[in-house]
Amino acid sequence: MKVITVRDYNELSAKAGQLITDLIRSKPDCTLGLATGGTPLGTYQYLVERYRAGDITLKDVQTFNLDEYCELPRSHEQSYYRFMQDNLFLHVDLRPENVHIPCTEDCDPQVQCDEYNRLLNSATVDLQLLGIGSNGHIGFCEPGTSFDQETFLTSLSEETRLDNQRFFSSLDEVPHSAITMGIANILRARSILLIASGKGKARCIADLVNGPITEQVPATALRLHDNVTVIVDEAAAALL
Ligand code: F6R
Repeated sequence: MKVITVRDYNELSAKAGQLITDLIRSKPDCTLGLATGGTPLGTYQYLVERYRAGDITLKDVQTFNLDEYCELPRSHEQSYYRFMQDNLFLHVDLRPENVHIPCTEDCDPQVQCDEYNRLLNSATVDLQLLGIGSNGHIGFCEPGTSFDQETFLTSLSEETRLDNQRFFSSLDEVPHSAITMGIANILRARSILLIASGKGKARCIADLVNGPITEQVPATALRLHDNVTVIVDEAAAALL
């Protein structure tokens, strides 16, 4: 695992954005695995700027998002569908048919998990972008998730719901469940780029890099992969 420490969030976003830009330029029909949450916002902003500058096109890029909340319609401003539209998809030339996000609206979750898993496994993700939860989750694979897990319906831990409360007006509004790629899906990507910023991530980054490999810290599964880059700012690197 390669760990790169940068000064702050802006440098982190530029570094992650540059790595993705380099991939898109060298392989214009690449497949990207995408994350939501606060951390990738600057990375997506960077990609939008590079697109607007004419440096990249995403017209042949395919994307697969990690996860989607249950209990929210796609039109909800905190759905991950909306997040991706607002922060990336509407600002670049990705084709709607090349974009994949688990669907949790008006459907049988198990059918959707199976369908998403089938689609995902019919592709090969060239680069999977990840954030990390303060409890070490990746995607919404919470502590205790098997490393062999494929796409599934997961319950969000109270810690994760509390962490994500900042995006909602109250804790009651934060969904209790989500459809997420499993760790086995994530590990199939050709390369993985995990980004983390701020002191709230220092503990889980130390566990990821130096702790035992354990299902209690799902991100430690990444140590079983041979092409992982972790970019952290100084605050998130504080316990390394
Ligand atoms: C998002 C996702 C989550 C987040 C993680 C960190 O699609 O799968 O694993 O990456 O919860 O979220 P932020 O970036 O908001 O700290």
